[in-house]
Amino acid sequence: MIEKNFIFHMPVSKKALSGSVAWRSPSNIALIKYWGKTDPQIPKNASISFTLSNCHSNTRLDFSPKATPSDQYDFQVFLDGKKAPDFEPKIAAFFKRVDTYLPFLKTYSFDIKTENSFPHSSGIASSASGMSALSLCLMSLQKLIDPSISEEDFFKKASFLARLGSGSAARSLTGPLVVWGEHPDIHGSSDLYGTAFTNLVHANFRDYQDTILLVDKGVKQVSSTIGHKLMLGHPFAKARFEQAQNNLSRMVEILKSGNLEDFIDVVEKEALSLHAMMMTSDPYFVLMKPNTLEIIEKIWAFRRSSGSHICFTLDAGANVHVLYPLKDKDLVEAFIASDLAPFCENNQFIQDQVGMGASQL
Ligand code: DP6
Repeated sequence: MIEKNFIFHMPVSKKALSGSVAWRSPSNIALIKYWGKTDPQIPKNASISFTLSNCHSNTRLDFSPKATPSDQYDFQVFLDGKKAPDFEPKIAAFFKRVDTYLPFLKTYSFDIKTENSFPHSSGIASSASGMSALSLCLMSLQKLIDPSISEEDFFKKASFLARLGSGSAARSLTGPLVVWGEHPDIHGSSDLYGTAFTNLVHANFRDYQDTILLVDKGVKQVSSTIGHKLMLGHPFAKARFEQAQNNLSRMVEILKSGNLEDFIDVVEKEALSLHAMMMTSDPYFVLMKPNTLEIIEKIWAFRRSSGSHICFTLDAGANVHVLYPLKDKDLVEAFIASDLAPFCENNQFIQDQVGMGASQL
């Protein structure tokens, strides 16, 4: 599939519609990280993530034909029922980016009403789930205008659009494992959209658990967008992109064999490499907090003493994702409550697990 295949050709004599569509999209946690991209949102390496279940965005798109035609986008954004003008520039930039592929955007007035299952100020990025849900709503509108699209192409294009809103959003449509970025070991993988990972996956990775420890709920000092930019011209960029491609090759084998020790090794290496890139950018920055490191040390010590398969990963922030197989759930949950929760803001953490992707509401 190439970019021009995603252009929607409007049926000539179709009257504009009024109505409403809604989707729930999950968040995701990358095992192999996307960090570094070129225009337009093309990743420098392939990534793979677990789709989450409890952390999600619900987005409703109300649409009606514009009263008077204009060359502007006409939309309002509501977060948790309140008008959210802060989100408008991001949505306007997104509309501009996807305009070629959805040529009806300027003929409609939109109300975009979104809410997240996780607290707004939890430090958990809502861009992946939010952009995925909005893209699915826009695809539902395209489908109302012209129902001929197949289910497979519907999701492919929704992921393609989501990617143009936020790279990691391309991985937030299906589950339980999604790949984004071309990789020689993964048939059908693409830089343009995410695809469900269809290679063999061992039962050890079924219902994998993710407890998100809310170490720092504040706004990050450096956004992902800036962080990605700093990878261009980064002294270690080439080695990092190669490392990620190799780690993904290893991960494909691990997912097949079910080797949890190797899984832990790759996942933690990826998390620390991501943060090492931040610390060696110019200008450098650190998103981990002292409590992030306290938690990592405690996870390592507990793994040694308990023999459980607990490990951690990080996204672009101080929060820690604690990953573990279902068989270790009782043991690890007790440990988190007693030993890790005290390092979280207000002892807060979110219990999540691998999920199957978005659903229409
Ligand atoms: C560290 O997808 O948030 O979470 O494409 O600029 O919106 P933009 O960036 P974003 O970057 C996510 C980076 C990451 C790793 C990952 O999810 O793969």
